[in-house]
Amino acid sequence: MTPKRGPDPEALISAEAIAARVTEIAAEIDRDYADADELLMLGVLRGAYMFLADLSRALHIPRRIDFIALSSYEKATNLGGVRLIMDTRVSLAGRHVLIVEDILDSGRTLSYLLRLFGARGPASIRTCVLVRKPNPEMDIDVDYLGFDIPDEWVVGYGLDYDDRFRALPYIGMLDPGSVGS
Ligand code: IMP
Ligand code: MG
Repeated sequence: MTPKRGPDPEALISAEAIAARVTEIAAEIDRDYADADELLMLGVLRGAYMFLADLSRALHIPRRIDFIALSSYEKATNLGGVRLIMDTRVSLAGRHVLIVEDILDSGRTLSYLLRLFGARGPASIRTCVLVRKPNPEMDIDVDYLGFDIPDEWVVGYGLDYDDRFRALPYIGMLDPGSVGS
């Protein structure tokens, strides 16, 4: 099966703008955790892989990387519908945990993760999100935010549509009509 090669998604956030913001966020995190022995960065697969890769390289504080995976996103599901399908390798007890996520939409995913991991006795738990849409169902405190974006389907820099477009170096808006099924 060969995916149709439609036009490239229209750029919303350029690779340069992302890189500049990642550097700023890293400086904030470096400052905030200057006294912590180590930061555990928890990337949410798969969308956050590129953001986590860049952010973790831009930091200077001692840090450790781990990943988790969730069941795929279904708009119709409620909070109970979010399910962990791959857990952390390390224990969270006593650690400074930073959840690194690609996008905040309804907030269900982050709210679930905060509840789940918050109950495991971390020394602290914070969230870092690359882009945020204006659709909160849950009141989520994002500690580090890249960009607020309009309510469009976005792809690139890790974000996908049906597992495509993840490797685009920028974030673009997808015109669903341009994508073959
Ligand atoms: P939430 O639980 O509604 O906040 O949704 C967050 C999850 O939905 C993200 O981790 C993404 O996997 C997915 N998602 C929501 N909007 C988009 C989008 O515009 N592009 C790609 N993935 C999205
Ligand atoms: Mg995701």
